[in-house]
Amino acid sequence: MPITTCIFDAYGTLFDVAAAARQAASEPAFSQIKDNWPQLADHWRLKQLQYTWLRVITDAHTDFWQVTQDGLDWALEKTGVDGDPALRERLLALYWELQAYPEVPAMLKALNDAGLNTAILSNGSPDMLNAAVQSAGIAGLLDDNLSVESIGIFKPDARVYDLVGQRFGCAKDEVLFVSSNGWDAAGASGYGFTTAWVNRAGEPMDRLPWTPQHTLRDLTNIPKLAGL
Ligand code: LAC
Repeated sequence: MPITTCIFDAYGTLFDVAAAARQAASEPAFSQIKDNWPQLADHWRLKQLQYTWLRVITDAHTDFWQVTQDGLDWALEKTGVDGDPALRERLLALYWELQAYPEVPAMLKALNDAGLNTAILSNGSPDMLNAAVQSAGIAGLLDDNLSVESIGIFKPDARVYDLVGQRFGCAKDEVLFVSSNGWDAAGASGYGFTTAWVNRAGEPMDRLPWTPQHTLRDLTNIPKLAGL
């Protein structure tokens, strides 16, 4: 079947999750992370994701904003900069206004112009996603922000990927699913979507039972993958 529906992970895929730590590090008030902000950002991201998986397997769901704060608290302590409430507050505030990667608006516009369905499918809570698309100026280029909060479970549970067919009435093989998280792209492949892994950092492929069909360095070629 031709692709009718392009679905995007949010954090790390459309939005640059490292931007919060990078921006805070450039501000004179937060010079304590001037040199180690990349490690802070990496620890924050990894713990945030680990907490989503752990909460699924322990049946202890909470929303993504809570695990984002929990991951940050762990990362601040790990990096030795946990004594400054203003830094914590600034990093969390920046998470609500992450920049989109530069190629995102033109890529979404090409899909829209061709009449394809476009949406986010994210662990993010609805208010986080609304804030992010507004601040990145891409709200008008997406048909919907599908949040796992409607079912209370995180990726890569199959019920999350079910939200796409429920929203758009499309078959699995009409969907191109795009994620910068190798495990998310792999999980969506196992589910039955055609998948593209956006591997900006040149990471090794996750060792899982499924593999993404396509691997890209950025989002520029998504319209081509969608058959445009
Ligand atoms: C999301 C995270 C996993 O947006 O990046 O769902």
